[in-house]
Amino acid sequence: MFIMKIVGIVLLLAAAVCAKHEEYNGWTSYAVNPSTFEQLKVIGQLVDQYEVDVFSYPTVQREGLVLVRPEVNDSVVKALEENQISYSVHVSDIKAVLDQEDAVNARRKVEARGRSGGRSLPYDAYQEFPVIDDYLQDIARRYPNLVKLVTPANSFEGRPIRYLKISTTNFEDTRKPVIFLEGGIHAREWISPPTVTWAIHKLVENNTEPDLLRDFDWILLPVSNPDGYQFTHTNSRFWRKTRSTVGQNTARCPGVDGNRNYDFQWNTVGTSSNPCSDTYAGTAPFSEIETRVVRDIIHEYLPRMKLFLTMHSYGSMILYPWGHDGSLSSNAFALHTVGVAMAEDIDKVSLPNFPSYTVGNSVLVIGYAAAGAAEDYAHLAGVPLSYTYELPGLRSGLNGFNLDPIYIQQVAIETWAGIVAGARRIAQM
Ligand code: ARG
Ligand code: ZN
Repeated sequence: MFIMKIVGIVLLLAAAVCAKHEEYNGWTSYAVNPSTFEQLKVIGQLVDQYEVDVFSYPTVQREGLVLVRPEVNDSVVKALEENQISYSVHVSDIKAVLDQEDAVNARRKVEARGRSGGRSLPYDAYQEFPVIDDYLQDIARRYPNLVKLVTPANSFEGRPIRYLKISTTNFEDTRKPVIFLEGGIHAREWISPPTVTWAIHKLVENNTEPDLLRDFDWILLPVSNPDGYQFTHTNSRFWRKTRSTVGQNTARCPGVDGNRNYDFQWNTVGTSSNPCSDTYAGTAPFSEIETRVVRDIIHEYLPRMKLFLTMHSYGSMILYPWGHDGSLSSNAFALHTVGVAMAEDIDKVSLPNFPSYTVGNSVLVIGYAAAGAAEDYAHLAGVPLSYTYELPGLRSGLNGFNLDPIYIQQVAIETWAGIVAGARRIAQM
C-alpha cells in the first residue's frame, strides 16, 4: 500500500515535470560566431524577425547563444547559411535538458526542506517565489530591532513586492549612507535573487562584518518581478519580462522588459516597441509597477544612497553607465575603481571553472547599447555608484540562466565578497 502510494507520487511528479516544459518541444539552441559586423547585423535582424531568444549576445570576437522555435528553425538556419555565418547546434533538445534539470532541483528542494526545518532559506536549490517571500517575513519577525519589512505595492498579478530595510539605528533619521541591492527583475535569471537574500543572511543571521552595519543602512529587494519569476517556475523557464497586459500590449504577448522600462533615454536604442519582443520597452517609461517600486526607493533615499546594484545573469561582468551610447559619466573614475575593487575580491574567492570578472562601461563590455536600464536611471537620479552585475553562468548545456544548483551558494558567497569590497571603498571615501 505504502509502496503503491510512493510509486503513484513519483509517477505524478514525472508527469508534471514532463508536461511543464511542453512548450520547448523541438526548440534548439545554437552557438553563433559572426566574423564580420555585417554578419552581426544579420543576427540582430533574425532576432527581431523570428523572435529568436538571445541567451548571450554575440560580438565579432565572441560567440553568442540563441534559442530558436521549431516553426522558424528552417528559416533561421537558412539565413545563417546564406550569410555564411558560422554556427553549431548547442543544445538540440531543450525540453529534455530542462526536464532533467528540474528533476534535480525538485529533489534538492525536498531534501533541503527536511534539513532546514523550513526556517532559513536553503541555497542548494532554486526556490519559488512564496518560499523567498516567507523568508523575508520570517526575518522581519525574528529581528524586529534590526529589520523592517516594507510592501510598497503588489505586482501586476497581485503578488507582494517586498523589501527589507536593515539598520542598527532608526532607518529614517540616521545620516548613514544607504546601499540598495535589487534582484529578479529579469525572471529567468534565477541566480539573481539568492545573491540578495544571501546579503540579508550575512547582515542579519550570520554577521561576520559588523562594520557593514555600523557604517551603512541597507535596502534589500530580492525579487522585483515576482510574476515573471514565478512564471519561469510554473510555465515558461525562459520568460524574461513582467506579466502585464496593458494598452497595445495584448494578452497574446504580455509583459515588458523591466530593464528597458526606466525613464532614461526610454525606447531609443536596444529596445523594441513590439510587445512580443523580449526587450519590449512598454507603453511608457515606468509603465510597470515593478520598476516604479525601484524608482520610488531610489528617490526616497537620495542623496543618502551611495551604491545601487541590480543583479542579472549571466556573463561575470560589472557594468556601469551610460548604457545607451557608451559614453562615460563624470563619476567614471570612481565607478571604475570601485568596480575593479569589487571584481578583484570576487575573483579571489571564485572557482577555477568560473570566468573572471570584467569591469567597464556596459556598452563597451557587453557589446550592445540599451536604453531604459535601471543602473543608468539610478545614476542619472544621483546615485554616484550604480552598477549592473552580470553574475556567473557556464557555457555548458543550459548552464547560462540555468546554472546548476550546486553553484548557488558559491555565487552567493563570492558576490557578497564583491558587495563587501564596494561598501568598504565607500566607507573610505
Ligand atoms: N543584460 C542586461 C540587459 O540587457 C544588461 C544591461 C546593461 N546596462 C545598460 N544600461 N545597458 O538588460
Ligand atoms: Zn538581466
